[in-house]
Amino acid sequence: MTVTPLGIPRRLMEFTVDGEPARVPEGSTILDACRAAGKDIPTLCQGDTLRPKNACRVCVVEVEGSRTLVPACSRRAEPGMEVRTDSERARHSRKIVLELLASSVDLSTTPKVAEWIKEYEAKPDRFGPDAARLNEAPKIDNELYVRDYDKCILCYKCVDACGDQWQNTFAIAVAGRGFDARIAVEHDAPLTDSACVYCGNCVEVCPTGALSPKTEFDMRAAGTWDEPRQTETATVCAYCGVGCTLTLHVQDNEVVKVTSPHDNPVTHGNLCIKGRFGYQHVQNRG
Ligand code: SF4
Ligand code: SF4
Ligand code: FES
Repeated sequence: MTVTPLGIPRRLMEFTVDGEPARVPEGSTILDACRAAGKDIPTLCQGDTLRPKNACRVCVVEVEGSRTLVPACSRRAEPGMEVRTDSERARHSRKIVLELLASSVDLSTTPKVAEWIKEYEAKPDRFGPDAARLNEAPKIDNELYVRDYDKCILCYKCVDACGDQWQNTFAIAVAGRGFDARIAVEHDAPLTDSACVYCGNCVEVCPTGALSPKTEFDMRAAGTWDEPRQTETATVCAYCGVGCTLTLHVQDNEVVKVTSPHDNPVTHGNLCIKGRFGYQHVQNRG
């Protein structure tokens, strides 16, 4: 029997979003409230299974009485608050964040970013061809997932997923400071010599595709990755007695990726190496 924790009932608070009255349960963030009100606020470092990190600042909004813009993903909504999501100041700030990120990082596989660049009239090209980039080849050192740090926005989600928020393996961390900051394996060792257990939970939370399953990486390189054509089938992992819920992403009758729903009370989107990557036997039809 699946038991879904309902939590204790929370009081509703009243405040305004863009002049319209809004009500959300106590403890909600401004982002929760805005989404409930149908407002589309861009987010990159926010993760629905992780604690807010406030790393990217693309979600900033204006709050009456606050000197600075506030990150909607982490700031709790308060009774009587007056939030403006679309003020000139907030839009300008999002535009600058998008320009800085898109001029220095390959965002070609980041969902929705092209839309936001258009919406905020961001011009990443204005920094010219000499804008600093990592220009590093993708790290392909195992058969399960690829690390392409040219696409990394240093949002820290992978580090949090590998560390105390989920996996507790601590195989990766942020090394260096300022422009030299990067995601590194412990002691800068090759991933294959590290404590990594290849659960792929870092891959699951990466917002840009800097970390991707090897299948997806290879299919993108071959031009065959076609998400709109993929179907999703829910099933239960049969490897052990935990019984994690799996979502099989299938293209052309082949499993191309396995995930788990983020709202699943058992996995919260996390899996182990077997559940996430051990599906080849399913399509071994020889
Ligand atoms: S695959 Fe798992 S153990 Fe390895 S770095 Fe990612 S989260 Fe950590
Ligand atoms: S690899 Fe992905 S999850 Fe990790 S910091 Fe970079 S963008 Fe974020
Ligand atoms: S999404 Fe809010 S700070 Fe990154």
